[in-house]
This record gives sequence, structure tokens and C-alpha cells, in this order.
Amino acid sequence: MRRDLEAWLKDSGAGEDLQTLLLAAAGACAKISALVRAGELAGVLGSAGTGNVQGEVQKTLDVLANDVMLKMCRDAGVLAGAASEEEDEPVWFGDRAGAPYLMLFDPLDGSSNIDVNVSIGTIISVLERPDGAGSGVGPFLQKGRQQKAAAYSVYGPQTQLIVTVGKGATGFTLDAESGRWLETAPKMAIPEATREFSINMSNMRHWESPVMLYIRDCLAGKQGPRGKDFNMRWVAAMVADVHRIMSRGGVFMYPRDARDPSKPGKLRLMYEGNPMSLLVEQAGGAAFNGIEDILDVEPTELHQRVAVMMGSKEEVDVLRKAHAEKVDAAVSV
Ligand code: F6P
Ligand code: MN
Repeated sequence: MRRDLEAWLKDSGAGEDLQTLLLAAAGACAKISALVRAGELAGVLGSAGTGNVQGEVQKTLDVLANDVMLKMCRDAGVLAGAASEEEDEPVWFGDRAGAPYLMLFDPLDGSSNIDVNVSIGTIISVLERPDGAGSGVGPFLQKGRQQKAAAYSVYGPQTQLIVTVGKGATGFTLDAESGRWLETAPKMAIPEATREFSINMSNMRHWESPVMLYIRDCLAGKQGPRGKDFNMRWVAAMVADVHRIMSRGGVFMYPRDARDPSKPGKLRLMYEGNPMSLLVEQAGGAAFNGIEDILDVEPTELHQRVAVMMGSKEEVDVLRKAHAEKVDAAVSV
């Protein structure tokens, strides 16, 4: 018989409060999944007519998913505060002042896929509340390595949830009949070698030379320096692209590029980079930002961006080498 999430959490070594929080977050994901599935029938598609702190148009589902996650996790009683990609400032729950955990989340990753019925997901990162912390942004600015747990759910052909409490990454599938998360991928392991990369090629002209060289070598296939043919996939939802890599290997990249030199990439460190990097590392992969491991980046702002290269170890190592050699000459593919 398959274990459900509750039984798995009991066996996981996580303390009771962390179990409670992860169960609440998983419950919120199940609820968001139901809204996603109903789509137009529940009137949840289209724009909410508002913008978020990143200046992006918010979809109705972005806002609903944010509210569901905030409410259900707050009700769990073990969360002192939460920060969301969709909220300018962290929300501190005054009535839960001494609670042990803080959470950061991206309520609906890959929003541009919502209205076209392509996979999207939710990402969460759990931190310990530093002693005495009860307000402001500072307590949230912890390195990725300090995360106590991370998880993402993906709303695709199946609704799945991948969780880590620092002892590997485990996958669950939502059983629509019972509403339970059943263990379907006990020990996720990213193959070290791959022939698949994931990058938005339309940005090629803006890339820096190490990424340009890396992709050039992949595209050269069997006859090129890598000696093998590569395939490419891009879902345009980080959760879905990284989930594919967690399942069968590959490398996912959203590198820093020349479009806006003030931003080190498009993806958010605290809501996307850190939790997904922890899950990837826990599945035996690697995650790098062009300079260091993403989990070692010192956060300075809640909504800060990060360059992302994560997945199969061999590919991340090739990218590390390309960045270390730091080719300055202009390169074209
Ligand atoms: O959250 C940002 C995001 O939607 C990611 O999920 C995804 O990987 C990326 O943006 C897609 O960006 P683009 O539209 O530039 O391909
Ligand atoms: Mn996102």
C-alpha cells in the first residue's frame, strides 16, 4: 500500500510543527489544483486588473492561489509570517508571534500558461523564525542552505507534490477521489548525464558568452565538442521544466543577460531559485548562478533576482567551467 503524505511526514524525521505546516501547504496546493482544473467554469481565468511588486500583470488565479496559501498556512498555527512573490511586503501574523516558522512562496508559477491550459505550479520555501524576530524583511533574508524544507506542486496531467525536509526528495500524486497525496516517487534521482537542455532561445542575442558557448556546443551535436546530440524543451513554467529534470534529467537555465544589467536574471531567488535548488540538490543534481551555488547566495532583498542553471551534475559542471574560463570575446552561435 502507498504511504500518504501524512504518514511519510511522520517517518521523515521532521518535527511536529514542520509536519503540520507542510500538510497545510499541501492542502492549499490541492485546493489551488481544484481551481486550476475548473478554469473558466469557476470564472478564475483572465487578468485580475492589478499588478504585483515586479510590475507584472496579476492573473485572477495568481491572486486566488496567494490567498488560499496564506490563509491555510496561517490557520495551521505554526507560521509567524509569510512572504509571497505576489505581495510587496512580508505578512506577519501578529496572533502567531512566537510561531517557529517563516514561509516564502510563489503561489502560481508560470502564470503565462494559465489561460492556455499548460502546466503551472506552486513553490514553497520554509525557514526557521530567528529568535525574537517578529517584523520586517530581515528575518526572511536567509541563505538557501538554511531552508528547513522546500516543496513544489505541479498542476499538469497529474497533480504532483515534491517535498524535501533535507533527506532526499520525495514525490506524491494527488488522488482526486480521496483528496490524499500518495507517495509515487520515493527517492527522486536526477541522472548525472543528460542530452536535454531547457532555455528560452529567443533571448540568445542577450546572453553572456559562457552561456552562448555552452549552447553552441550543445547545438553542434555529435560532431561537436560534446560528442552527442541534444534535445531542447521549454514549457515556460519553471516548476514544470524543473519537474521534468527531476524526473528524467536535463539542465534548466534562465541566465543573467544583457537586457537589464541591473537584474541578475529573471527568476526570484527567495521564491524560485532557493526552493527549487534545494530540491534539485536533494535529488542529486546541482544549481549554480554563474558565480556560486544558488544555495550559497547571500540574499539582500526579498524580491531579488538570480541567474539560474540547474539540473544534471555533468551539465552544471560544464557550465561552471565555462563561467570560470570567463570568455570575454563576443561569441555567436
Ligand atoms: O516565474 C517566472 C516564469 O514564469 C518561470 O516560471 C518561467 O520559467 C519563466 O518565467 C518563463 O519566462 P519566459 O516567458 O521569458 O520564457
Ligand atoms: Mn514564478
